[in-house]
Amino acid sequence: MKSIKDQYELTDFVKDMTAAVETEQDDAALVSKAEHLVGKLIQNKSWFPSEKIAPNRDHYARYSLYVDPLDRFEVLALVWAPGQSTPLHDHDGTWGVEGVFNGRIKVTNYLQSEKISEDVVKLRYSGTMTVGEHSTGQLLPPADCHILEAADDQSAITIHVYGKQLNKFKIFQPLNDKGAFKAYDHEVGYTTKLH
Ligand SMILES: [Fe+2]
Repeated sequence: MKSIKDQYELTDFVKDMTAAVETEQDDAALVSKAEHLVGKLIQNKSWFPSEKIAPNRDHYARYSLYVDPLDRFEVLALVWAPGQSTPLHDHDGTWGVEGVFNGRIKVTNYLQSEKISEDVVKLRYSGTMTVGEHSTGQLLPPADCHILEAADDQSAITIHVYGKQLNKFKIFQPLNDKGAFKAYDHEVGYTTKLH
């Protein structure tokens, strides 16, 4: 059995991610490395800050865990109360990784298949899955649109890493035309523990 000091925790993850952004040559290699590291991080629960497990009443909580000082990646915890979900959204052109820390999350994926105009895109549905504790997934444009929602009326916590500080993204609403979606700019911030 590993002692506490041998367990992989957030400071180890940040050190390894920093090395990865300094050495990996392309986003596909980097996102795979990040997914592997998130998989390690979510094996151990002891590092998680206790003040960041509280859900929000109105929508999923979005807690910052780390922002790289050179803005090459950030780490977030999203906390889901039963029934909470995201809209269909992208990640502002960057890569992303998610890992389920506890609970279960339903993921519905879309691929950006065509840009029709500045604010209209075609998205192609690429599958729905419900994933449980210790599962990981990755997003790499153009396969970078999804809906996340708490599954089974349970609360959940997920860990997310993005290729920059994500303070805005696009959300998509279906138009009449099959597969066409109108894109809206959406700004996001962090949940503070006062909520
Ligand atoms: Fe997302």
